[in-house]
Amino acid sequence: MKIAITSASGQLGRSIISKAKAAFGKENVIGLARTPEKAKDLDIEIRKGDYDKAEDFAEGLKGIEVVVILSGNAEPDKRIQQHRNIIEGAKANGVRKVVYTSIVGEPGKCKFDAVIISNRQTEEDIINSGLEYAIGRNGLYVEADIACIPQYINAGEISNSAGEGKCGYTTRKELALAYVNMIKNDALNGGVYNLFGEAITQLELTQAINKVHGTQLKYRAMSVEGYEADRVGLYGEFFGGVIAGIYEGIRNGTFDAPSDFEKVTGQKHQSMLAYIEEMK
Ligand SMILES: NC(=O)c1ccc[n+]([C@@H]2O[C@H](COP(=O)([O-])OP(=O)(O)OC[C@H]3O[C@@H](n4cnc5c(N)ncnc54)[C@H](OP(=O)(O)O)[C@@H]3O)[C@@H](O)[C@H]2O)c1
Repeated sequence: MKIAITSASGQLGRSIISKAKAAFGKENVIGLARTPEKAKDLDIEIRKGDYDKAEDFAEGLKGIEVVVILSGNAEPDKRIQQHRNIIEGAKANGVRKVVYTSIVGEPGKCKFDAVIISNRQTEEDIINSGLEYAIGRNGLYVEADIACIPQYINAGEISNSAGEGKCGYTTRKELALAYVNMIKNDALNGGVYNLFGEAITQLELTQAINKVHGTQLKYRAMSVEGYEADRVGLYGEFFGGVIAGIYEGIRNGTFDAPSDFEKVTGQKHQSMLAYIEEMK
């Protein structure tokens, strides 16, 4: 079985490719990349795969049985057509199955909606494509928070607008395990799976960091408006707005849902405490 994985040069792409090589053999794994030279070190066949170029997928999906589509990171309205370029390439080449990395979240609760809604549209496009499919809805990557630990220590606190909302976090390593199972196990076909660990609050995340790093960080809840103004000031309208929208979403329960991780992988998701310990 030949498997193609898009966005091969990115962090999630690399993680899935590493597990897929072990599961299926490196000769059966093909990376699709917008910038192939960035994926050279993966030691697998790399083909051109720019989401904006339908012709890349008309060519790059030749001989492929299963394609894993990683959601793009362009503005939400552009992503829908980008993902359609891959779905059309899959159909034209007789690809049997599509696995898609979507995002968890109930629309209507925060300004991150545009991203969630664009992911739901791609889910619908895949379901209506006539191809076999398995869709994962990723929790939020906790790596982004872990990378901020030096900043948190500097500030003596974690501050955002999530308040007491719970968030289902995950890691790219755990997601890779889930996606390889979704490629392999056809009994999971036709399903949409929430992929994250036990949902936790920002206070619980702060306490886990304190426990592992011996710090005394506090958690400070900010208002939605105050945090948005702060992030937009730091990162600009689009990216600052996305970050603020995510924390508004956590506050409103957008990312707190039952997880299907164990059903997909047959094992429990690593706890955030264990992951923070591993990363120390
Ligand atoms: N759940 C979460 O918390 C969360 C957080 C952030 C992002 N995400 C989503 O998860 C995806 C993967 O995350 P990641 O951490 O692996 O991101 P990443 O490390 O930043 O990698 C992004 C990848 O997207 C590729 N890409 C961008 N535009 C492309 C295009 N037009 N055509 C083909 N490839 C393109 C990049 O290719 P180049 O090497 O050519 O730049 C790169 O390989 C993101 O794209 C985003 O949709 C989820």
